[in-house]
Formats: sequence, structure tokens, C-alpha cells
Amino acid sequence: MDVSPDNSLVCSPAEAMERASATAWRVRAPAKLNLTLRVGPLRADGYHPLDSIVAKVTLYDELLIERAPDGVLELVCPDPQAGPAEGNLALRAARALRQRGGRGGARITLHKRIGVGAGLGGGSSDAARTLWALNQIWGLNLPPAELAALGASLGSDVPLFLGPPASRMRGRGEVLDPIDLPAFDALLVTPPVHCATGPVYLAFDAQNPGPLVAFDPARLTGHPVSQWDDRLVNDLYAPARQACPAVGDWADRLHERLGRPVHMTGSGSALFVLLADRQDGLALHAQLPPDLARCARLVGLNPW
Ligand code: C5P
Repeated sequence: MDVSPDNSLVCSPAEAMERASATAWRVRAPAKLNLTLRVGPLRADGYHPLDSIVAKVTLYDELLIERAPDGVLELVCPDPQAGPAEGNLALRAARALRQRGGRGGARITLHKRIGVGAGLGGGSSDAARTLWALNQIWGLNLPPAELAALGASLGSDVPLFLGPPASRMRGRGEVLDPIDLPAFDALLVTPPVHCATGPVYLAFDAQNPGPLVAFDPARLTGHPVSQWDDRLVNDLYAPARQACPAVGDWADRLHERLGRPVHMTGSGSALFVLLADRQDGLALHAQLPPDLARCARLVGLNPW
């Protein structure tokens, strides 16, 4: 079964789920951008308190979910970057849902397009969309709050992918408030650099950070996108540069080439530049040297 065409520069919105055949569904799992990310000192439970404005964007992993006989639960991922299927978060999500009373089986084929170790939330999104789709396919119809709680047990970023296009995320990631964000476009650059979350948080801890600084969403929602650049902040940016120096190299090259503010999502390594519009993005892309251009895409706010 085919997947939708890949690697186009412009990433347009796609359907959340559509039928691929009588017994199979095509499910999209969007990436996220942390437009802002404030982080507080390590808590006793091993997590950090966050205050983040997160938006889902139009770059998708694609999952083909086929009905399978009861008892069969399989995941295949042709991309070696994703690691062994056994530990895959989407498969763990499917198993967790089965334990909640899901009847039936599933064969999941996962096509990765969202970089791994990039701060784009790909693995969490795959898990969230698997929960969401199988909840319907298996006719379980668990209410959204129950799915979100199940998601939170799998990973801090999972619940946000069950929510609206943009949220303010607090707690360790499980406290979500929807926010009304205007549509925006960004040039997303995903360097071929795997930036593991753990070492970035360790570098953050080594800075002896002060208390969490709240971020009022009105600082973005009350202003046009053209005024956002100076308001975006990511407390993990300096630690990511320290833990993963290649992130800093890519960010500096991008900034030198484009002369525009460069931001990082999550714990990195993906970087983004806010755009006036798509034309602006195409013009910027044309200025990039081939290695940067290959890793760049134009994305927008995901509509769902
Ligand atoms: O929840 P999840 O398994 O995705 O988190 C992975 C790691 O990221 C945690 O073990 C923790 O080290 C770090 N983390 C954190 N604070 C958060 C979220 C994640 O320290 N709010």
C-alpha cells in the first residue's frame, strides 16, 4: 500500500485519518513546535516543570493501520532511525489501549518523516494518533480525558497531540490549555543531528536554574506573527548547544546565511525561522547552501 508523496519543500495540511481500503486507515501524526519553552528546576519526581506554547504543524509521520485478527498487534517501520519496533511508542500505545478493553488486532506500518531526536515530538505524536485512531477502529470510544491520561502514562508530550492545534503546556507536559493562535508559516530545518533529551536536561540542571518563569500566551496571541520573534524564548537552547554542539553550528550557519532570528523547538535539534508568508519562505530557501536546503521545509499551523 502506498504512502502519500514525501519530501516536498512545502508541507500542506493533510487529513487526520482516511480510509485506505475496507480494512485499513491512513492516519497522520503531525510534528510540534515549541514556540516558547520555559523550564524550571528539576522536581523530586525526575521531571522539570514547563510552561510552553506548543503548536502542531503540517509535517506528518504516516501510519497505515490495518485490522488484524484478535491477538495480533504488530508494528513495522522501514526507517532504521526509528529503532527497534519492540520499544516503539506507537506499539506501546496500541498495547496500552488493548489492556483498556480494546478488542481486535492491528498491523501498523509507520512511515517516518519527522526527524528523530529533533524536538519535534514525532514519537509522541505517533503514539497519540495510534491511541486516537484505534479508539475508533476498535469501537472503544474512550472519552478524550481517558485517552489523554493513557497518553500521559506513555510520555510527557503525548497528551498535547490529542488536543487542539495549539496549547499552553504546563506541569511536566500533561496540563494543557487550548489557545487560539493565528495561522503562521515557518521554515523548519531539521539537521541530521540526534539530540537526546536527557543530556540536554542535564546541561540545563548544571546551570542551577532559577524558578520557572511563566509565559503569558497573550504575549503571542495578542500580537501579529511579525512581532513574535523578540518574544520567543527557549530555556533549553543554551543547554542544547552545550550538550550537542552541532546544533549551535547549524543555528549559527542558518542565522549568518539568512540574517533572521533562528529558534529551536523542544530540546532540539530542529530549528525554525518565522516567515512573513510562504513566498518569504521560498525566497529564504533559495538562499540556503545545498546541505541546509536539503533539511528545510515550509510548514504551517496544523488545522486539527
Ligand atoms: O516523559 P518522557 O518519557 O517523554 O520524558 C523523557 C525524559 O525527558 C524524562 O526522563 C526526563 O528526563 C525528561 N523530561 C523532564 N521534564 C519534563 C519532560 C521530560 O525532565 N517535563
